[in-house]
Amino acid sequence: MEGYGGSVKLICFGLYVLLLVFASIQLPRAHGWSKEGHIMTCRIAQGLLEAEAAEAVQNILPHYVDGDLSALCVWPDQIRHWYRYRWTSPLHFIDTPDDACSFDYSRDCHDAHGKQNMCVAGAVQNFTSQLSHYREGTSDRRYNMTEALLFLSHFMGDLHQPMHVGFTSDEGGNTIDLRWFRHKSNLHHVWDREIILTALNDYYDKDVDLLLQDIEGNFTDGMWSDDVTSWKHCDDLLACINKYAVESIKLACKWGYKGVEAGETLSDDYFNSRMPIVMKRIAQGGVRLAMILNQVFSDTQEGFALPT
Ligand SMILES: *[C@@H]1O[C@H](CO)[C@@H](O)[C@H](O)[C@H]1NC(C)=O
Ligand SMILES: *[C@@H]1O[C@H](CO)[C@@H](O)[C@H](O)[C@H]1NC(C)=O
Ligand SMILES: *[C@@H]1O[C@H](CO)[C@@H](O)[C@H](O)[C@H]1NC(C)=O
Ligand SMILES: [Zn+2]
Repeated sequence: MEGYGGSVKLICFGLYVLLLVFASIQLPRAHGWSKEGHIMTCRIAQGLLEAEAAEAVQNILPHYVDGDLSALCVWPDQIRHWYRYRWTSPLHFIDTPDDACSFDYSRDCHDAHGKQNMCVAGAVQNFTSQLSHYREGTSDRRYNMTEALLFLSHFMGDLHQPMHVGFTSDEGGNTIDLRWFRHKSNLHHVWDREIILTALNDYYDKDVDLLLQDIEGNFTDGMWSDDVTSWKHCDDLLACINKYAVESIKLACKWGYKGVEAGETLSDDYFNSRMPIVMKRIAQGGVRLAMILNQVFSDTQEGFALPT
């Protein structure tokens, strides 16, 4: 009986420890398009790669994904809380001054401790410039090209999610709790995921491939076909990245935050008016990611000016 009592105590203690562990896991601040948003951005981009870039991407990706970039586009969200990658955590977003509705690189692109360049705009620059060394050959590689490709691909998605360039005090809408139709959510998550899931559910038979085809159709022959050239036009990469961030904060003000109060319920009106914006940002993120990859991996180094 002695031994039995001992093991009961041990089991109780074990359960208690487990309880403490679970209680101490905090819900991480959500960042980035959902899995679906990132996957679509990367599939769009990969479909637009020219031969050289397609080959480079294929060579840089680990073999087990069989050349599919979208399979690892979510990776930066999965590792951002690991100790080794804690430095990447501020790279998913930009906090801008509340209600300013503007982005200023030198004012806003820093982490919570004020370290410059530690924001999603700085990260896109950083990993683009790392990838631009790929063509120099294998001997002197300071950087891990696989990681640079995955980070760039992911952060181009995040940069286009309007609420990733949001206000500081509400953490890009993360602290604005509300309801999405009948369940609890927050404003950031509505833009990361809820709108995409509701669209999939209502119009695309829950099939990401059908939604993706519709988005691609809309920029090849549909309503955005005349805009693609201007979306991907870029002479100076730094200026382009700043422009994408400005577009996001403007959209966040005009469509994300506008008229939204904590505690309210967002439903059909909000969904119908915002869904086209979410889809357009996914399309733009994909088209522009392809533009950058085509540029950094091209033989002829013309096109935009690269940071060094
Ligand atoms: C750039 O990437 C390197 C690692 O490759 C990292 O140490 C540095 O903090 C990054 N900076 C930014 C702004 O992303
Ligand atoms: C590059 O990074 C990936 C992902 O973290 C890792 O699996 C791989 O071993 C790294 N490659 C090199 C050469 O360090
Ligand atoms: C594509 O365009 C059609 C027609 O303009 C529109 O109804 C549809 O919602 C668009 N799809 C996406 C995903 O933007
Ligand atoms: Zn992210």
